[in-house]
Amino acid sequence: MVFGKAHIGAPVTPRQYILSPMHSSARTAISRDGFSRSVRHLLDRGLLTRERTFFDYGCGRGDDVAGLTALGFHAAGWDPNHRPHAERCEADIINLGYVLNVIDDPTERARALRAAWSLTRGVLAVRVLGTADRTAETVTPWRDGFRTGRGTFQKYFDDDELISFVDRTLGVQCVPVDPAHVLVFRDAQLEQAYLDYEPDTGSDLLLQSLEHPERVAKRRVEFERIRAENPDAAAAVGRHLLRYGLVPTEADSPDVATFASYGIRAREFCSALIATIGEQAWQAQLERIRNRMLKTIALAHFRHRPKASDFDASTQRAIRAHFGSFRTAVELSLQELRLVGQPDQIERACEGYGGGLLDEQALYVTQEDRPRLPLVLQLYIELGRLFYGELDDVDRFKIHKQSGKLTLLFYEDFETKGTERLQQRVKIDFRSRRMWVFGGGTGAA
Ligand SMILES: C[S@@+](CC[C@H](N)C(=O)[O-])C[C@H]1O[C@@H](n2cnc3c(N)ncnc32)[C@H](O)[C@@H]1O
Repeated sequence: MVFGKAHIGAPVTPRQYILSPMHSSARTAISRDGFSRSVRHLLDRGLLTRERTFFDYGCGRGDDVAGLTALGFHAAGWDPNHRPHAERCEADIINLGYVLNVIDDPTERARALRAAWSLTRGVLAVRVLGTADRTAETVTPWRDGFRTGRGTFQKYFDDDELISFVDRTLGVQCVPVDPAHVLVFRDAQLEQAYLDYEPDTGSDLLLQSLEHPERVAKRRVEFERIRAENPDAAAAVGRHLLRYGLVPTEADSPDVATFASYGIRAREFCSALIATIGEQAWQAQLERIRNRMLKTIALAHFRHRPKASDFDASTQRAIRAHFGSFRTAVELSLQELRLVGQPDQIERACEGYGGGLLDEQALYVTQEDRPRLPLVLQLYIELGRLFYGELDDVDRFKIHKQSGKLTLLFYEDFETKGTERLQQRVKIDFRSRRMWVFGGGTGAA
């Protein structure tokens, strides 16, 4: 494994283990099955791949490192208590999982965060315990956290505390996954690819069409043979078409070359696929693709001025194909963004939507509504992501029509019990740029 080397200052001093002469934070490292949530997220979202190096800063007993290494990933780790002699090295992905919450001195906490960041080439993942993780264990208040019955220190990060701590300490705007979990990107393309991620847009359509091979066969029998012989290549080309609204070139996907070796062009396969999907569904898919691109560019304005080079080559090509130029796409995205700041526009869009649940004050929608909402409301919800993080687990969104607020609602077993038991509410006020996290049933939604 070739990791870069970096000198990251003085070794960790014993000051942070003040609670016990026997380094109490060492006892916080538990052995567990499977990957930590932080690592799982990196894997699920395609950030952690076998092509990238991974370094676990404060790795504890090293379960994540061992699991990843066994699967062929380039992984290493260091821990002041469990692996004090390991080298601390630069990597594409640095993980700082459940470390900051065991350090009782805020200065040391900031130092650990900066040290981990100094090793980061692509993205730093920081996960801590949040207020929702508090257990019934007997605890005594200590500094800005608690001393547990086992003599260890635990801090539970509140509301937007982790997000503002990371932003302030590193001077970089982090991307929240949730209030206790953030990502800090050094590589702009990686960040854009992460923000642009959608779980296989339209892959349902693809699957539907492939479930009807006879329809494809009507168009060109040959495709079925290729698909049967090369299901992965066929699915990859189809997925590209449905994600970007464009036929992939060889630069986009190596599967195009596989097709070529059969004497078939990806274009022919794609037009057969569109024929099986049907013109109306295809136009709806194109609309979703364009809206998604405008949404991504619009949200980039909150971090920096969007540049074409922030996007990978396939996305850049798709933006040019759908909007004529990157600049036009930026202008259109700004137009939409201006609408989000106008309460009358939000009210009008809420009232015109025709789905969800509308009352005097707000429109309530679920995940299913999200892609169908007018773009201005999609953007309104996406703004919540800048404050809260990933929105995939939210059960309902309350879009306040006039007050510039968004409430995220989480229920116990929403799928079967509906809105019977509210578990958590997160209220975001876009005007004051504040976020509050409430347990179920407290305060007004
Ligand atoms: C709760 S454990 C987490 C271990 C591992 N990251 C995981 O997710 O399983 C916290 C770890 O932070 C380590 N630690 C404490 N202070 C640290 C510091 N200043 N820098 C890096 N790691 C630290 C402790 O030794 C302990 O192993």
